[in-house]
Order: sequence, then structure tokens, then C-alpha cells
Amino acid sequence: MTMMGKNKVATVFGGTGFIGRHVVRELAARGIIVKVATRVPESAYFLRPCGSVGQVVPFACDYKDDESIAAAVAGSDYVVNCIGILYEKGKRRKFEKIHVDLPARIAAACKASGAERFVHLSAMACERGTSKYAKSKIEGEKALFEMFEGASILRPSVVFGEDDDFFNMFAKLSRISPVLPLIGGGHTKFQPVFVGDVADAVIACLERSTVGSGNPLGKTYELGGPDVVTFREVYETLFEYTQRPRALVSLPFWVAKLEARLLQLMPKPLLTADQVESLKTDNVMSAGELGLSDLGITPQSMQLILPHYLPAYRAGGRFGDKKLA
Ligand SMILES: NC(=O)c1ccc[n+]([C@@H]2O[C@H](COP(=O)([O-])OP(=O)(O)OC[C@H]3O[C@@H](n4cnc5c(N)ncnc54)[C@H](OP(=O)(O)O)[C@@H]3O)[C@@H](O)[C@H]2O)c1
Repeated sequence: MTMMGKNKVATVFGGTGFIGRHVVRELAARGIIVKVATRVPESAYFLRPCGSVGQVVPFACDYKDDESIAAAVAGSDYVVNCIGILYEKGKRRKFEKIHVDLPARIAAACKASGAERFVHLSAMACERGTSKYAKSKIEGEKALFEMFEGASILRPSVVFGEDDDFFNMFAKLSRISPVLPLIGGGHTKFQPVFVGDVADAVIACLERSTVGSGNPLGKTYELGGPDVVTFREVYETLFEYTQRPRALVSLPFWVAKLEARLLQLMPKPLLTADQVESLKTDNVMSAGELGLSDLGITPQSMQLILPHYLPAYRAGGRFGDKKLA
């Protein structure tokens, strides 16, 4: 096994995002110099204290410009792509551009610059999915492999952690709404995975040896946690920690899609028709696929992590259930 070490440089695209910031922290903790490629360098300033002075460097990148991508990748041993979107908007925010073209262009830049490793974040079950999101993810995987065949691809199920947009989003909704929708009856299965385990998986792909059975080059890993839960059970788990039980109203997929068509007109939509479509496919590992255990990682359970952040949503806050003396 090769050890990651000092004097190595990594570029993390989307390092300002939910998963990316955890990847940046793990790289910095290993003494690696990290270039955080971002459209808005100021949005990466909060990552600077993860390393020593000058170790974590926000790097302005215009994703539309190949020269800008090449500059972001130049001199890096490791490149990680954590850029992604959940919905399309207008002419520029398109799955095709962000999930297919961009990863392929980053992969081409990696090849041209001689980067050692390229790790890309895709999504669980994208090869079975019928949504535009899933289809773009699988197309992106194919496109980037054509440019950099030694890339490693990670496909997480829904990712949870203190700053997630999943449990936090439902928790916020439950604060303002007495009812919550059970889209498609709430039968869709998920295998929630802790963001720290996803970051560890990125590190494992970067540091594994290029020879032997542990070789992650050109491989795809599905990242799922220890629990498989239905959409209904996700709500039940949420209510357990927030102590805000809500009525669950079953919505057939077609009704949810009609509602989503209205909601997706919002500047930052709560739900889109494409997201409803994605709920038709279980978000769990397929039999025989490589996973976290193949990277030497034992996944953390929701029961261990959720108590750290969901109790803040209780009526009166984290200590709301304690009587004042
Ligand atoms: N979170 C999950 O539950 C989950 C589950 C499965 C797969 N994934 C995949 O894992 C990757 C990282 O997910 P995440 O939740 O960390 O993503 P995120 O926080 O929503 O976004 C990651 C980064 O993408 C860039 N970005 C956002 N909108 C963009 C746009 N319109 N054009 C270009 N860049 C844009 C931003 O970087 P800058 O603003 O710095 O440029 C942002 O920091 C994505 O590919 C996602 O599909 C996530």
C-alpha cells in the first residue's frame, strides 16, 4: 500500500459542497496541499483552517473553460470531483453539462497533466434509474472512463451528516408542516451512508496500491451504510430524534409529480418531477458490487450519528424537553 503523504497536491472540484468539504478536511489532515477548485473562491475560505497556513488553497475555476480546468488540475497528484446538482434550472444548470461533459473534461485534464489518481462521485443505482439525474450520472461515468480509464468511481446512496440536505431538509419541513408526503407510498428503499465514510472511501481510493487485489483503479464502488430503510422508515427515524411526529400522507407517484411540477418553479425547488421519478428505483447496493468493505471501511450507523444533530429540531431546541429548575 502506498502512503499518502506530505509533498503531495490534490485538487478537489466541488470541495465547498457537503461531501467535498469532508474530503478536503481528510486530505488536509494527511498533510496534503489541497486546491479547492470552485466558481467562487470566497466560498472556500472557511476551509482554510483545516490545514496549516497556505495548505488549503481556494482556486477560482470557470467550469466552462478547459484552460481553467487544466490550471486547477496542473501539478496535482490527486484529483477528486465532487461537483453535482439535484435539479436542472435554466440553460446553464443542466445535468448533461454538469454530470456528463464536466467530469469528462476534468478526466481529460487529469490525463493530460499526468495526475496519478482521479476519483469521481456518482450516485447509487444510477445504472437502474429512470430519472434524468440517474441517466446523466451513468453517462458521466462512461464519458470519464473514456478519458481516464484508471479513474475510481464512488456511488453513494443518500448521504447523511450534520450538514446534510436530507434529514435536515425533512426536519425543517416537519417544523412548519403538520403533514409530510409519503411519495409512492413510502416504499422506496435507501441505504443511508455517513459522509465521513464517503470521505474515507475517497481517501482509500487515492492511497491504495496500484497493484494487487486492492487496486481501485478503473473500479466502481457502491457506498451504502449498514441499514436499509424505506422512505417511511426514514421519517420514523427522523421523528424518533426530533420528537415531532407528523401525519404521513401517501401520494401516488403521478400526484407527487403534478405537485412537483409546481414546486420546481421555485428558485430552489423543494421537489422536482425528476426527483419523484428517481424515487421509483430503490437506492440500495446491488448484489455483487464492490462496496465500503472492499475499501477497508466499516460504515457508521444512523443511530450513532443522528443523535448529534437532529435533537436540535425538537420543540424548544436540543434541551427543550428538560424542565428548568
Ligand atoms: N449528498 C448526497 O446525498 C449524495 C448522494 C449520492 C450522490 N451524491 C453525489 O456526490 C457529489 C457531491 O454531492 P454534494 O451533496 O456534496 O453536492 P453539493 O454540496 O450540492 O454541491 C457540490 C458542489 O457542486 C458545485 N455546484 C453546485 N451547483 C453547480 C452548478 N450549477 N454548476 C456547477 N457547479 C455546481 C458547487 O461547487 P462550487 O460552488 O464551489 O463551484 C458545490 O459545492 C455530487 O456529484 C452528487 O451527485 C451526493
